[in-house]
Amino acid sequence: MKVDQSILIRIKQLKKEKDVVILSHYYMPKELQWEESTGGFVDFVGDSLGLSVHASQTQARNILFCGVQFMAETALLVNPTKKVFMPDPTAGCSLASSISGEDVRNLREQYPGVPIMGYINTYAETKAELDICCTSRNAIKIAASLPGSRIIFVPDMYMGQNLQVQVEKELGKHLILWNGSCEVHEQFRAFLPQIKNQEDVEMLFHWEVPGEVTNVMQKGKKGIVGSTGDILKYVSESSSNKFYLASECDLGVALQKENADKEFITPCLKCLHMKLNSLEGLLNALEAIGSDQEEKYGVYLDAELIEKASIPVKRMLAIS
Ligand code: 13P
Ligand code: SF4
Repeated sequence: MKVDQSILIRIKQLKKEKDVVILSHYYMPKELQWEESTGGFVDFVGDSLGLSVHASQTQARNILFCGVQFMAETALLVNPTKKVFMPDPTAGCSLASSISGEDVRNLREQYPGVPIMGYINTYAETKAELDICCTSRNAIKIAASLPGSRIIFVPDMYMGQNLQVQVEKELGKHLILWNGSCEVHEQFRAFLPQIKNQEDVEMLFHWEVPGEVTNVMQKGKKGIVGSTGDILKYVSESSSNKFYLASECDLGVALQKENADKEFITPCLKCLHMKLNSLEGLLNALEAIGSDQEEKYGVYLDAELIEKASIPVKRMLAIS
């Protein structure tokens, strides 16, 4: 791992001194996925569900979240007595910014009585209007828990189209969709010819990849369409040794770490929001915690919003 020894020592010292737990998403650059258990400084690397569960259970006074804003907000929603910080609190998400609380209120008016399930990739102001949240890992389970034959699913239309296939087959339910999309996963459309040409390679598609690409699975390709967690599980259980990763490039770090003998092909598409996180930013945030500079790195929501927006997240966690 290319981390200067003096920086590593400083990070560990600050973490201890300031009682900070460091949580990192699988889309972080390699150095920010370096776990304490292997000599690094990150307490937990996970997908958005694993990270929210971890955030809800931590005893540390401060959470330093290496991810994007909606994830750090969620940590605050599930554990509001903690202070939450980010190496760069401006890290956004094209899905989260595609829908507002007002949009959800309008949908509720348009489809009275239809439950609204919202992807965790939404801001707190939007979450406050949802019936329940889901992540990529538990979406089917959450859909199964909802009453009626229709569900409004926001905001990812591509994930919705992929889910629809399973939700219709397994649950006999119909999804009403919003028109948000992930600016990273939708780019795999341009790689469809490359994907079609892969031979003896298993496909790893995140739910957020458009249906016109994941459709290759119906035409004989082997692999999985699912969440980050599903992809990791699938690879560890597969007897194949070559995979095409159609998700964020740095998921390859964990895949390679856990499956050193397997090969991963990918056009290496990066989420530039996630990449606003850096080792330097992490160190600056740690230095700032407890000083008059800490606001620059803090994630803040008012108490009333926390109360409302935490309801759909807690409902999700109770089912997960
Ligand atoms: P996961 O729920 O799979 O961690 O996905 C989060 C995300 O932002 C995918 O683009
Ligand atoms: Fe949002 Fe896509 Fe980045 Fe995930 S990869 S944080 S969905 S923009």
